[in-house]
Amino acid sequence: MSLLIRGARLYGEGEPVDVLVADGVIAEIGSVRAPEDAEVVEARGQVLLPGFVDLHTHLREPGREDAETIETGSAAAALGGYTAVFAMANTDPVADNAVVVEHVWRRGRETGLVDVHPVGAVTVGLKGEKLAELGTMAKSAAGVRMFSDDGHCVADPLLMRRALEYSTALDVVIAQHAEEPRLTVGAQAHEGETASRLGYAGWPASAEESIVARDCLLAEHARARLHVCHVSTKGTADVLRWAKNRQSTGVISAEVTPHHLLLTDERLSTYDPVNKVNPPLRTASDAAHLRAALAEGVIDCVATDHAPHAVQDKDCEWAAARPGMLGLQTALSVVTETMVRTGLLDWRGVARVMSERPAEIAGLADHGRPIVAGEPANLTLVDPDAEWTVRGAELASLATNTPYEGMRLPGVVTLTLLRGQITAREGKIV
Ligand code: DOR
Ligand code: ZN
Repeated sequence: MSLLIRGARLYGEGEPVDVLVADGVIAEIGSVRAPEDAEVVEARGQVLLPGFVDLHTHLREPGREDAETIETGSAAAALGGYTAVFAMANTDPVADNAVVVEHVWRRGRETGLVDVHPVGAVTVGLKGEKLAELGTMAKSAAGVRMFSDDGHCVADPLLMRRALEYSTALDVVIAQHAEEPRLTVGAQAHEGETASRLGYAGWPASAEESIVARDCLLAEHARARLHVCHVSTKGTADVLRWAKNRQSTGVISAEVTPHHLLLTDERLSTYDPVNKVNPPLRTASDAAHLRAALAEGVIDCVATDHAPHAVQDKDCEWAAARPGMLGLQTALSVVTETMVRTGLLDWRGVARVMSERPAEIAGLADHGRPIVAGEPANLTLVDPDAEWTVRGAELASLATNTPYEGMRLPGVVTLTLLRGQITAREGKIV
């Protein structure tokens, strides 16, 4: 069985071409006559990109299957144009051992909509006290290549140093949720004008920036690979620029979320906990600098921090609400709005920040590959001119906590292929 994508513009460049997919790989590109048995997809000049890779997803299984499961999260990912996602370790039980990471990996394989790579915890129980058995998780069937205590910061500098040093022997990445906990006790919102006006305790930018500066130095000395999660401030981008300039080894990488590119703390005036997220929404100036840093390459990639929460954890007073927002199905549209429509990135650039760089950072061999014959057919077709209105109830996630409810956004994923198999088409799971 083969599939012919007729008339797609690769990376949105040049004349439309046909792409023939057979046996899970790209068989031929050019002016292709459809083989007899081929299924034909009319691309009508839409943009063909390598399938997206999300380094930061919360799938909530095991433990909070009332908020999301590997199956529903995988569906959201496929519909969002993703072919690989990294599932964060803050599940219940925590993914701090081989049994849990292998379970997540296996459930991902059974679901088959997207490659699910479990992230292992850095410390036992995410407690920040004792290193987890990174080696056992790396060598398990799940082949863990990224470790993170996300949701929590590995705040102890000695423990972080040990984790970085140990990671080099395993050739894995340590992804840090940068938040100096002593600076964010009781914090509810970005420390600034809006928080003061609304009476929320502030989450200062320096709580993120100081940890990132520290970790860049620790990683440099350990010659380790550090990945900075959800960069949210201008100051962090400045620290990253400095750190990347002073070292030649290129071991530091960073991600920004769609919500930090588009949304600001001005939204907090509604008191709606859908806007509560960690790190918090920052100022318009921060968002502008994050967009520029992403275009410049100081921030390497976009990661969703897709964080589904059950209704009772979001539909409550602000202080009691859990932080986090849905992201998988809206990421491409938010990137189209903030980066493409503004002229900061072309589609080649979108391929870089949503697919190629994240695949490189995580060391995935068969994602984020060039669209040429012989490569695995992990592909996403995007209609750049179409727009849609976001409705949380219509998203594939079990949860509905999207901050984009009712918003009209550009950029629609029309087809996702995982190893040549259609996983999503025209907004439906196949
Ligand atoms: O907003 C967030 N939600 N930030 C995190 O670091 C954790 C995540 C979650 O697990 O809900
Ligand atoms: Zn986090």
